[in-house]
Amino acid sequence: MRRRGRVLLFCAAGLLVLLAVAITFTIGWRPFIGPRVRATTNRQFERTPERLARGKYLVQGLLSCEVCHSPSDWTQHGAPSVDGMELAGQTMPLAGFPGTAVAPNLTPDPQTGAVAWTDDQLARAIREGIKHDGSTIFPLMPYFEFKTLSDEDLASVVVYLRSVAPVRNPLPASKINFPVNLLVQGVPAPVTGPVPPPANDQLARGKYLVKLGCGCHNVVDKLPYAGGETLGGPWGSVVSANLTPDASGIIYYSEQTFITALRTGYVGARKLNSIMPFGEFKNLTDDDLKAMYAYVHTLQPVKHRVDNTLIATYCKLCKQKHGAGEEN
Ligand code: HEC
Repeated sequence: MRRRGRVLLFCAAGLLVLLAVAITFTIGWRPFIGPRVRATTNRQFERTPERLARGKYLVQGLLSCEVCHSPSDWTQHGAPSVDGMELAGQTMPLAGFPGTAVAPNLTPDPQTGAVAWTDDQLARAIREGIKHDGSTIFPLMPYFEFKTLSDEDLASVVVYLRSVAPVRNPLPASKINFPVNLLVQGVPAPVTGPVPPPANDQLARGKYLVKLGCGCHNVVDKLPYAGGETLGGPWGSVVSANLTPDASGIIYYSEQTFITALRTGYVGARKLNSIMPFGEFKNLTDDDLKAMYAYVHTLQPVKHRVDNTLIATYCKLCKQKHGAGEEN
């Protein structure tokens, strides 16, 4: 009996070790012990006119904060924010989401907005994925991309958010279903060192801008910037397009086609779906759009045909159904 007891104990210990190894190499321990969080500091970003202007440019343009943090009018081309509700938050109208994601009110409204959140709480939320209360931000908010936002640009975004008019807009809290709510705790990561701006040359700037602004096109491992993200909601259901310079991507775009597409949502006579934020990108300067064009043309070409005008069929490359999927 004693021997059997020891064998059982040994087996149980073995199983525990196996389980520990399995957790370490699969979901990791964050679902159990919580996200990686750094303590906030009491730093305050100096309010300068340069930062205010740069912050407005980033928030209303490249970073598309308003697309998620404001209710939009999806009946209009470019889906503008509902008048007077810019940055006032909304329950995200997403099809097939595991729960309810609420993009909070970022305006400095005392009852329903962000007035009580410190500069560093906002900064930590934007780049590191931690809410003001220390909990995890669902990675629908692209903080894993915003982590490359330079320190100066981050300060500018916060300075601008502080300057907008308060809007009263009570919203419920997000509720993410189990077990997704626990699994996402592995996503936040503190930014521990300085993040400098990109070097002052066109390609480096283009890379910086594309990394921050074009994340929906860069979601499938092994298919960098070759599209494949399914986006469903009041705009319909579309899959993000291949941006690489391949025949199945946008090699046929001239610089002018690119700039026009990003500003107007038209590629020739073809109309893009308004989930592509051309309603925001229209605010980008010629210089920035040209830098983005130059950079995407240096990407590794990837063959991945995505055509939202065709009926969705299974694609073995991104393992989803989308227009022209069976041709891949
Ligand atoms: C693709 C949609 C999307 C974009 C783009 C986006 N956000 Fe968010 N954001 C969200 C959602 C959804 C949440 C809440 C997630 C949750 O509750 O887990 C959130 C949370 C936040 C929070 C956390 C607030 C708190 O509770 O402390 C801040 C701050 C924030 N966003 C700021 C920004 C800023 C600034 C930008 C632009 C630089 C931005 N977001 C862009 C969707 C987005």
